[in-house]
Amino acid sequence: VCWLTPEQTAGKQKPFMYTQGQAVLNRSFFPCFDTPSIKFTYSATVKVPEGFTAVMSATSWEKQKDNTFVFKMSQPIPSYLVALAVGDIVSADVGPRSRVWAEPCLIEAAKKEYNGVIEEFLVVGEKLFGPYVWGRYDILFMPPSFPFGGMENPCLTFVTPCLLAGDRSLVDVVIHEISHSWFGNLVTNATWGEFWLNEGFTMYAQRRISTEVYGLPYTCLEAATGRALLRQHMDATGEDHPLNKLRVVIEAGVNPDDTYNETPYEKGYCFVSYLAHLVGDQSKFDAFLQAYVNRFKFQSITADDTLAFFLEYFPELKEKGVDSIPGFEFDRWLNTPGWPPYLPDLSPGQQLMKPAEELAELWAADGLNVEAIEAVDITGWRTYQLVYFLDQVLQKSPLPEGNVERLSKMYPKISKAQNAELRLRWCQIVLKNNLEAEYSKVKDFLHSQGKQKYTLPLYRAMWAGSETARALAMETFSATAPQLHINVQNYVKKILGLE
Ligand code: BES
Ligand code: ZN
Repeated sequence: VCWLTPEQTAGKQKPFMYTQGQAVLNRSFFPCFDTPSIKFTYSATVKVPEGFTAVMSATSWEKQKDNTFVFKMSQPIPSYLVALAVGDIVSADVGPRSRVWAEPCLIEAAKKEYNGVIEEFLVVGEKLFGPYVWGRYDILFMPPSFPFGGMENPCLTFVTPCLLAGDRSLVDVVIHEISHSWFGNLVTNATWGEFWLNEGFTMYAQRRISTEVYGLPYTCLEAATGRALLRQHMDATGEDHPLNKLRVVIEAGVNPDDTYNETPYEKGYCFVSYLAHLVGDQSKFDAFLQAYVNRFKFQSITADDTLAFFLEYFPELKEKGVDSIPGFEFDRWLNTPGWPPYLPDLSPGQQLMKPAEELAELWAADGLNVEAIEAVDITGWRTYQLVYFLDQVLQKSPLPEGNVERLSKMYPKISKAQNAELRLRWCQIVLKNNLEAEYSKVKDFLHSQGKQKYTLPLYRAMWAGSETARALAMETFSATAPQLHINVQNYVKKILGLE
């Protein structure tokens, strides 16, 4: 349960509190069987001080006298999906069953970011995966220290205010959380060792919705940035690391949050894509996903249930023995660490990826070919094209002396970006290239937000860098630690050897 001082909010006027249940934090919020294998309905009566509003992950909501709010969740959910937030928050409608919640100073930006777009994602989701059973789909913009991009609390997704990019460029996070409405919130992993069932299927569903709404090229580009994250993760840990399996063994006493990494997301996505590839027909596989949700809705299951149902649904594949094709055995997918044996074809994204790859090549060269560089006009590039370009530059870093300074001057759109995904990559490049002149950008970014997936890579990069970089890490952490979520604080301490 997180208690924030006024200074830790966007408006800096009133305190704020919220809960984050996943994976096993809700046991400190209310007595429960704190395992995703148990589902229950709930009701709650919440009394707050004058001037505050309470919201919960509930299907119904009523304000009574004396600042008392009464909530009811009428569908069975696991403990980790119970969520409460209280603060100086207001709401604005953005669709027939959706509103945004935010502090008053952010509400206009929140409304502008998502007005009229959420409903389309829900409608496409329903067409693909079956009815949306949760009634409303609302979004709460959290204070800057919220540790995740988004958290799929039913009826009310919690998101980082970093999504307020002004141009809807980070909407994939919302599509992801909406996808959990079927994968995760309806069909739930029975243990945290099967977390890929939640996240891998959700990544697949997210990219199916994205393909319908934004087309295949753009979706493949986004998936390529996801694949790059998996590559970075496996390079950092070694492919054979036991956490690089889809089915993870979590010993008694180990916090499931400590097993968190890209594997359940992106290797999980590859496995679901592989199942789709075995079927060979998108509409047949979509129909399978819908039948799967219908078969296991409101239940908690393991991968064995999923795969048995898959083979039962496609008896001709079962007969062919697709579960034991050498190199692609289902058992290998689940229980062997390492790079995915099958990668979905992302070449439909080539038209967007190729120019970014070529430009990164140019910037990595000794003796820059300025003419060729200047001939590439990036002003029209989408955010994810820039992200893909920067990931390539990062991969090739450190660049020859002077190149990153030139790049910074040439593309203020990148080096002075306000978009969080671009800022993360730019800070990573600054650190990898020891560009001390821009270290203040790393500091500013870490002061401005506390998302775990932004914070940890930057501290790792600082700690792996020069003395100056390490000093920057220490200085930044001592200034920002009180604002960070306790989990994130502890992970940073570990990186900095403070624990
Ligand atoms: N359920 C996760 C967030 C989470 C995972 C919280 C594990 C606690 C423990 C959420 O759906 C998620 O995956 N968020 C991503 C979004 C991205 C993959 C689009 C995030 O926060 O970065
Ligand atoms: Zn997720």
